Amino acid sequence: MMKTLVAFLLLVASIVATGHGSSEEAAYQIYPLRLKSGAGSDGATVQGITCASWRLAVEAHNIIEWTTVPAECENYVGNYMLGQQYRQDSKAVNREAYLYVRALALPNDGRNVWVFDVDETSLSNLPYYAQNGFGAEPYNSTTFYAWVETGAAPALPETQKLYNKLLNLGIKIVFLTGRPLNQTEVTASNLKKAGYYTWHKLILKNKTEYSGATAVVYKSAERGKLEKEGYRIVGNSGDQWSDILGTSTGRRAFKLPDPMYYLS
Ligand SMILES: *[C@@H]1O[C@H](CO)[C@@H](O)[C@H](O)[C@H]1NC(C)=O
Ligand SMILES: *[C@@H]1O[C@H](CO)[C@@H](O)[C@H](O)[C@H]1NC(C)=O
Ligand SMILES: *[C@@H]1O[C@H](CO)[C@@H](O)[C@H](O)[C@H]1NC(C)=O
Ligand SMILES: [Mg+2]
Repeated sequence: MMKTLVAFLLLVASIVATGHGSSEEAAYQIYPLRLKSGAGSDGATVQGITCASWRLAVEAHNIIEWTTVPAECENYVGNYMLGQQYRQDSKAVNREAYLYVRALALPNDGRNVWVFDVDETSLSNLPYYAQNGFGAEPYNSTTFYAWVETGAAPALPETQKLYNKLLNLGIKIVFLTGRPLNQTEVTASNLKKAGYYTWHKLILKNKTEYSGATAVVYKSAERGKLEKEGYRIVGNSGDQWSDILGTSTGRRAFKLPDPMYYLS
């Protein structure tokens, strides 16, 4: 009886202790946003296919160049993003990346790098989309710019775990993002606040140098520069196919889920 009571009190104490993170920590968790239940497999369809099939076709890059989530699938995508499945899918990708890299016998010459995209790969803009919606026109450059400027995007927790493991393996981190150069400071401070405390390079898009260039062209060119500098891209993580297609794509690439938007 006493033993049970002690065990119970210890359990309560540990719950209280873990639940009592700093308010800053709390601000960078995705879990509190889990407002809706389930993976969202609600039977909704668009042009005769289920929204689940639409999402799979998007992730497999069979449906391409789409501009917005079909209105019929807005609830489905919202439920997916805010529910367990998004987190689980992200975990599956990042876990596989770790299993891959752990098994490599890399030369210990300081030249190994891992390229991470920023938005929806390292940082999550889910708070913005949860507020503005997942359907027709959620993206508004004015309001999105204001959101980015808050520097309050949380980390994608499963990517951050991979990031920590890569650092432990001595692999250098390169962040390569389509965000414009004038967002360098806020991006750096947001990454740090979200727990990405160090990196080798943070590359933002010089819109003069890459005027009119697609993400594929820009990111390929920047990865090419890394290789010319002598770095070995052992892995490359992104939520868009344009992060991982093109040239100098790395020894292996990992596609994180993103049914919210498409960038070519
Ligand atoms: C974007 O948001 C701003 C600020 O709320 C608003 O004034 C503008 O009309 C919006 N633009 C579009 C295309 O919805
Ligand atoms: C930041 O740079 C982008 C791209 O060059 C430009 O469109 C935007 O107006 C700039 N924003 C500010 C506040 O200077
Ligand atoms: C951006 O690119 C232009 C054109 O190539 C170059 O003149 C400028 O120095 C670059 N800016 C930065 C900050 O690298
Ligand atoms: Mg991205």
